[in-house]
Amino acid sequence: MRTVIYPGSFDPFTNGHLDLVERAAKLFDRVIVAVADNDTKRPLFTVAERRRMAARVLKPLANVEVDAFAGLLVDYAQRRGACAVIRGLRAVSDFEFEFQMALMNRKLNQRLETIFMMPKGAYTFLSSKLVKEVARLGGEVSPFVPAHVEKALKAKLKPRRR
Ligand code: PNS
Repeated sequence: MRTVIYPGSFDPFTNGHLDLVERAAKLFDRVIVAVADNDTKRPLFTVAERRRMAARVLKPLANVEVDAFAGLLVDYAQRRGACAVIRGLRAVSDFEFEFQMALMNRKLNQRLETIFMMPKGAYTFLSSKLVKEVARLGGEVSPFVPAHVEKALKAKLKPRRR
């Protein structure tokens, strides 16, 4: 049984993330989408919300589960019996940080492999950060995220009456 972890902030989960999970689910017996509980990034959504949003869209994929983790990724991967971690590479600009992270993780656990996967070309410009910015400024995000994520963004970013 080959298990792979797909870690990330998923703040929020986008169609680009979904594309990658679908690809990984064809290659591995089990894919664990692991939502990082990392407050230093000041996420818009709580871990529970990010986890719920991802789980809702991934429900039809039988060999995919959604979990949350805190602490070192390598420790979590070991606890879950994963042989590899997948990360998405959209463009050369992603490469430097991803390369550093992969090599640091290898230093921490040399048995854990990092596998880079490319999303569908149409998603190479897509990031959670940009989706949040577009939503915040009132732009249309329906092509980039599942419908329930769009709804959650609207609810979260709704201007508060004073
Ligand atoms: O979606 P993101 O924000 O690019 O994901 C980054 C993430 C969560 C994968 C990374 O920050 C991480 O692995 N955090 C866990 C803590 C850890 O292991 N840090 C050392 C990584 S070299």
